[in-house]
Amino acid sequence: MCGIVGYIGEKNSVPILINGLKRLEYRGYDSAGLGILTNSHSVVIKNKGKVSLLEERVEKSNLSGKVGIGHTRWATHGVPNETNAHPHYNSSKNLFVIHNGIIENFRTLKKGLEKLGYEFQTETDSEVLPHLIDSFLKKGYPLFKAVRLALTEVEGTYGIAVIYENEPDKIVAARKGSPLVIGLGDNENFVASDVSAILAHTKQVIYLEDGELVEVYKDKFIVKTISDAEIEKEVHEISMTLDEIDKGGFSHFMLKEIMEQPETINNSMRGRILYDKGTAILGGLTDVLGRLVNSKRIIITACGTSWHAGLVGEYMFEQFCRIPTEVEYASEFRYRNPIINQDDAILFISQSGETADTLAALREAKLKGALVLGICNVVGSSIARETMAGVYTHAGPEIGVASTKAFTSQLVVLSLITLLVARRKNMSQAEGISIAEELMALPDKINKILKLNDQIEQIASEFKDANNFLYLGRGYNFPVALEGALKLKEISYIHAEGYPAAEMKHGPIALIDENMPVVFIAPKDSTYDKIISNIEEVKARGGRIIAIATDNDNGIDELVDYTIKVPSTIKMLMPILTVIPLQLLAYQIAVKKGLNVDQPRNLAKSVTVE
Ligand code: G6P
Repeated sequence: MCGIVGYIGEKNSVPILINGLKRLEYRGYDSAGLGILTNSHSVVIKNKGKVSLLEERVEKSNLSGKVGIGHTRWATHGVPNETNAHPHYNSSKNLFVIHNGIIENFRTLKKGLEKLGYEFQTETDSEVLPHLIDSFLKKGYPLFKAVRLALTEVEGTYGIAVIYENEPDKIVAARKGSPLVIGLGDNENFVASDVSAILAHTKQVIYLEDGELVEVYKDKFIVKTISDAEIEKEVHEISMTLDEIDKGGFSHFMLKEIMEQPETINNSMRGRILYDKGTAILGGLTDVLGRLVNSKRIIITACGTSWHAGLVGEYMFEQFCRIPTEVEYASEFRYRNPIINQDDAILFISQSGETADTLAALREAKLKGALVLGICNVVGSSIARETMAGVYTHAGPEIGVASTKAFTSQLVVLSLITLLVARRKNMSQAEGISIAEELMALPDKINKILKLNDQIEQIASEFKDANNFLYLGRGYNFPVALEGALKLKEISYIHAEGYPAAEMKHGPIALIDENMPVVFIAPKDSTYDKIISNIEEVKARGGRIIAIATDNDNGIDELVDYTIKVPSTIKMLMPILTVIPLQLLAYQIAVKKGLNVDQPRNLAKSVTVE
C-alpha cells in the first residue's frame, strides 16, 4: 500500500528518494512521485506506473535538491493517473504533501475550502491537505503549527510528510493510523513509512505514535502531540540488514522466501524450546502467562493469510489447551460490537503489524478490558507496540506480497504457545517432549519438500491454463486448503476455492468435471480414509486430482493424477509441511503465466486502509 520516504541533509535527495521508493515497491502501488526543494524553485515529478519510469524522467531532468519527499500511491479515491499521484500541492505550488491513509471527512473539508476560493485538481481525498495547511499558513502560522492546526480538522487516518519552499530547512511529518518512522543520520535525517526505505542510510530510528507530529531538520527533530505538548522520544536500533531485504540471487522475493523457510522456522523456534521439560519459553508472554492459561476463551483475530494461521491455532488450542477458541476476521470483529469478557484472551496475528482492520479490532478489544496479545513479524510495528504482550515470529522481512514464510512462522509460534499453555494444564511431559521433538525436526523435513520444486514445476505446466481450482482438506489441513487457494488466486489470478473436504458434497461437487483440477491435502492421519472417499467421488466425475500426501503412502498414487509426497509429522504440525508444495505450485503457475509474482495486481503487502 502507499509508501512514504523523505530526506533532508547535505546530499542530493533525488537518488536517495528513488532508491527508498524502490524498497517500498513490494508494498503494492500504482503510481509514484517526488517533490524536491531545489535552490531556485520546487519541482514535482509524478507518473502512473513504476518507480523505474519516475527514475528515467528524473534522470533526464537532472533534478537535484537537498530536501525532498517521495511517494508510492495505491489508489483509494480516484483512478491511478499522474494527476492523482502524490505529492499534492497548494495553488502557489510551494507546499507539497504526501499522504498514506484515508481522509474520511474530505468532502466536508473540500466544500469549506472551495468556499474560501481553493481550487482542486485531483479526485483524491489527500488533496485537501495542502489546501487546508495553506489556509493556516495564510493566517500567518509557521509550517509546523499550520500542519498541526490543519490536522485537528481531519478525520480518518494519515501518515504525511510536508515540505514548504518558504521554510526549506525542515520536513514536517505526522501520524494517525498509518506508520511513520524518522531515521536519524549524521547531518541528515529521513522520514519513512517503512524502515526498509531508509535502511541503506541509518539504523537509528524513532517511531512516531498516533497523534504525534515531528519537525525534522537535518541535524535535529522536535516531536509534539497534536495538542501541542512536546515529547521526548526513544531512539531504537534496527537489527534488520540490507541483505535480508535483497533477492539474494533468486528470481523473485516469493521464491526466496519460500526457500528460506527451513531457516525462518528455526529462527522462530530458536531459544524458545525447553526440550527436557517438554515445554516452551516465550519471554514476551511471561508477565501475562497466568492470565492466558486461566482465560475462559481465546479469540484469534486477523486478516488474510494470518487469519488462516489463526484457524490452525484454533485446532491447536482446543485440542491441547482445552480452551474454547474462536477465529474472527478483524474487519467483522471491529464493527459488530463483539461480546468480550475480562477473562477472554484476544490474540491478534499480523505479519506487518500494521493492518488497519486488525489494529482497530485490537483497540476495540483493549477498550473492553480483555487480555490483548499479538503475534507479529515486524518488530516495532503498531500492533506489536499496542498489544499488552506478544511473540515475534522472527521470520525476517517478507517482501513478496503473497505471504509464505510469515505463515509457517506464525504456525510455529502458535505451536509454541500451545506447548507452553498446555503444559501448564493437562499435557504430560512425555507428550510435550514429543511435540518439541517434532518441531525441531521440521527444518530438515522442509528442506526435503523444497527439493520437489522441479516436480511441482512440471505439474504447474500441466495446469497453468486452468480457469478454476478447488482445494480440499480436513481438520488441521482445512485451513491449508484455504491458504493454498488464496496463494493461487493472489498471484496467478486463477479462481480458486478452499473447502473442508466433506463440504464438497454440499455444493462444489456440482462444478467437478474434467476441466476442474482438485487439490487434496491428504496426509495419512485419522481422517485419511474419509478423504480417500472424497477423492473417489471427484474421480468418479472426471476431475483431475493433485494430492499432497505423506511419503509413507504408497496406495494413493493409483487413485490420483499427480502426487506430491511430503514427510510425515504429528497432526498439529502437518500444515507447516503441507502448505509448502501449495506455495510452490502457486508460484510456478504464476511464473509460467508470465505474471508479476512479487507485486500482483491490486494487492498490497500491508493494508493500512479499511
Ligand atoms: C494483505 C497481504 C496478505 C496478508 C494480509 C494480512 O492482504 O497481501 O498477504 O495476509 O494483508 O496482513 P498482516 O500483515 O496483518 O498479516
